[in-house]
Amino acid sequence: MTPELHNLAQHVLHGLSAPQKALSSAWFYDDEGSRLFQRIMTLPEYYLTRAEHALLRERVDELLRWIDPDHRPLDLIELGSGDGEKAVTLCRALHARHVDSTFRPIDVSAHALAELSRRFDEHLPRMALKPVLGDYLARWPERSPERHQVVMLLGSNLGNFDQVGACALLRRIRTQLRSGDVLLLGLDLVKDPRVIHAAYDDSRGVTAEFNLNLLRRLNRELGMNFDTGRFSHFASYCPLQAVMRSFLISHVTQVVHSTVLDREFTFAPGETLHTEQSQKYSPESIAELAELSGFAHTHLITGSEPRYALAIWHRPQDAS
Ligand code: AVI
Repeated sequence: MTPELHNLAQHVLHGLSAPQKALSSAWFYDDEGSRLFQRIMTLPEYYLTRAEHALLRERVDELLRWIDPDHRPLDLIELGSGDGEKAVTLCRALHARHVDSTFRPIDVSAHALAELSRRFDEHLPRMALKPVLGDYLARWPERSPERHQVVMLLGSNLGNFDQVGACALLRRIRTQLRSGDVLLLGLDLVKDPRVIHAAYDDSRGVTAEFNLNLLRRLNRELGMNFDTGRFSHFASYCPLQAVMRSFLISHVTQVVHSTVLDREFTFAPGETLHTEQSQKYSPESIAELAELSGFAHTHLITGSEPRYALAIWHRPQDAS
């Protein structure tokens, strides 16, 4: 058994044995899950990707003024870069300003990094590019003393962690940085709950398929026998906690078996399996999160109709 399969098996054993069954959305992204997520990003209801691209495109000068006011040499590190579509605008602007910059995307998908290299070869052949394959906390690029680091965590990816997990991740990132280094976060903002809800329960049912695909993955990888026709996607937004949650609801009493785990799991009719959470933020909660995780909240870029935010944080001098 590979270490990844072992992790999945342990996660499922634990998550399906709990009184409130829950699995992490980190397991959504097998090949089919990644393909479905690409489709989600183009859906009319899923505004997040377009809003982030628009800010990166339209506010790039402002962004660069905050992250690199003195045109100092820098390493631009993107955590979970995917195919590099988000970073290309920023890299282009750095290149146009003649900033000595190296783009260091980190991603677990070899396929995504190959696509990223192709994109940069085509659009920015002279940009220094050093892709890193692997988990970003395990594979942090070595730093050179004379360059500062600008780290990007875009795509509202932080929102998939709960508050404790988000703080833990941010603190781990902070330990990699030196004072004055920058963290750039793409975060989805609190807005009309109906707009948020529609983004996670689209009319074409792509998000539902994305959620149900997790069961297909478990069938394939853990020898399980989920009948996906006996579950449905349920998306619920809580304005009090500003969190979107996705579940799979069991339609009937059913017992699901895993040959890999040699275990059975019983679902009652109406029982929910929690599969994802997507935190939404206000300018206040973003500033609070920076403080909790030891960053200095420097600047927030939002659109005129604020849907999405780019938060610029610095590692302060005195942080431990
Ligand atoms: C990757 N992540 C930030 C997406 C989100 O908005 O939480 C994943 C997603 N889930 C359903 N739709 C998109």
